[in-house]
Amino acid sequence: MNKYKSLSSRELVSMDKNVRIRMLNMLSGLRTAYLIGTCDIDKTSNLGLFNSVVHIGASPALLGFIMRPVHVRRDTYCNILETESFTLNAIHPDFLERAHKASSKYDAAVSEFDMVGLTEEWRQDTPSPFVLESRLKIGLGLQEILDIKSNDTKLIIGRIEHIFIEGENIIDADGHIRHEELDLIVVSGLEQYYSILPLERFRYKN
Ligand SMILES: Cc1cc2nc3c(=O)[nH]c(=O)nc-3n(C[C@H](O)[C@H](O)[C@H](O)COP(=O)(O)O)c2cc1C
Repeated sequence: MNKYKSLSSRELVSMDKNVRIRMLNMLSGLRTAYLIGTCDIDKTSNLGLFNSVVHIGASPALLGFIMRPVHVRRDTYCNILETESFTLNAIHPDFLERAHKASSKYDAAVSEFDMVGLTEEWRQDTPSPFVLESRLKIGLGLQEILDIKSNDTKLIIGRIEHIFIEGENIIDADGHIRHEELDLIVVSGLEQYYSILPLERFRYKN
């Protein structure tokens, strides 16, 4: 076992707080980074950066993400409550730096689209704005909010109402999505971004 670095739960607690947070944020590994687009009832738009998007189920078609504790103002959360709608917009290398800036706090009255230099895209039937520059975007209606008592976070579940993928050849006839051709960005924790390469595909039957 000597080749392993070991860290007990007690050692975790005694670590420098920032080091612990960075390490634990990265421990669960790589996930797709999404910009979540929302707006309030007056259509003031908002953009936030999220790495916790997870598949909840296919029938009905649901996706969820984790929202930090809402003791402080969180525009994404307030807007979702107001409009019962949000959009997920994948990130690509050409606007990664601008997308990262959407993780900063901005005044509720200003549009984060303007602040970071991305373009709002409004589509019929979806109350929330999409990111024009994104090549994979999903419009969702609010389905359910679950309180996670352990740490006061929330699991926000949305039902997929519309999917937009740029290019005719990204979704194969069998439903397989060629993420690599969309040039998607994945992220570990809150700072380190990666691009992706496909390795193998094995069939799954159940
Ligand atoms: C890479 C990255 C991923 C993030 N993922 C999440 C997340 O999954 N959930 C969350 O509540 N905040 C997450 N954040 C923090 C939000 O981006 C930040 O709170 C932002 O201000 C939210 O936008 P809002 O204040 O307009 O709602 C993440 C930040 C970064 C840099």
